Amino acid sequence: MDIRNVPLAAEKMKAKIADQSQLGFGKHFTDRMLVAEWKTGQGWHDARIEPYGPFVLDPSCSVFHYAQEIFEGLKAYKWADGRVALFRPEMNARRFNQSADRLCMPDLPEELFLGGIKKLVALEQDWIPTLPGTSLYIRPAMIAVEPVLGVHPSKHYYFFVILSPVGAYYAAGFKPVDILVEDYYVRAVPGGTGEAKTGGNYASSLKAGLEAEKKGYAQVLWLDGREQRYIEEVGAMNMFFAYGKKIVTAQLNGSILSGVTRDSVLKLAPTLGYEVEERRIDVNELVADIRAGRVTEAFGSGTAAVITPVGKLCYKDEVLQLSGGQVGEITQKLYDTLTGIQTGKLNDPFGWIQFVE
Ligand code: COI
Repeated sequence: MDIRNVPLAAEKMKAKIADQSQLGFGKHFTDRMLVAEWKTGQGWHDARIEPYGPFVLDPSCSVFHYAQEIFEGLKAYKWADGRVALFRPEMNARRFNQSADRLCMPDLPEELFLGGIKKLVALEQDWIPTLPGTSLYIRPAMIAVEPVLGVHPSKHYYFFVILSPVGAYYAAGFKPVDILVEDYYVRAVPGGTGEAKTGGNYASSLKAGLEAEKKGYAQVLWLDGREQRYIEEVGAMNMFFAYGKKIVTAQLNGSILSGVTRDSVLKLAPTLGYEVEERRIDVNELVADIRAGRVTEAFGSGTAAVITPVGKLCYKDEVLQLSGGQVGEITQKLYDTLTGIQTGKLNDPFGWIQFVE
């Protein structure tokens, strides 16, 4: 499908963020966005790159009432030789369609997802920050825009992609964050939408997140929705626990997001001499293992969060310290290797990088 380029007047172009150390996460947006539409009987059409700006939508649109929405997150990096790299974008394209299927939304051709992102990022490449730890965050999304209040799948959708120059997801940067294990609210249940990247999952996590923040924790670690016993994920990250040279993460079970960074850690770690294991992790066993010093490090993984060290875990009022509150050796090694591949400082033996243009 052709992607039209709607001209952008020079005077509409915004000033780039001068101090890249102050970017934060998702606060600034580039000059252009990609938009395409889908209608029953017509399929995908009218793909265009147009000036970034508000949508005019009917207040009755399904997305506003029934949250028929999905999204993705990936990043672009400007390499020292000037090339622009995307990290495993085909994984996001695939997961986007898995989420679309769960939310009864139309399948998006991979060439529109990848081709559209590459064309948009190429046009906006001057926005990619280069300070270590920064990147251009790419946010594709699909929303239901049919103006009707009946509860059924919409007959009209927008696919759009916006770009945001970002620094670290957590304000403190690459420093240990403290996490509260949530033992009241649940994020997902078997058969629910936990595996899909849909806004509703995040909306329903806000209350727990806010209560955790009031207690001084960055985010909550969700337990399974049936027994509140097994470790699931942190919402913006999958979780890993190191037992000496072995790193363990929760196995995918339909209610955990299948993270691209999670998958990358599982493939990367064995090449660095670490054993990996995906299994059910009982929170009581985990707590006993931390108390006994068997868990030597913990970290989260995510596109936005990259690899984030965990300094403390609090479960039922017991505060458990990990790695003496410091960045553990495995966490540091995985962070350095992953970001090294993403930014072109290290070889990419996995074929994970795709270049723009
Ligand atoms: C990402 O890591 O890209 C995410 O989507 C997590 C987030 C909600 C910021």
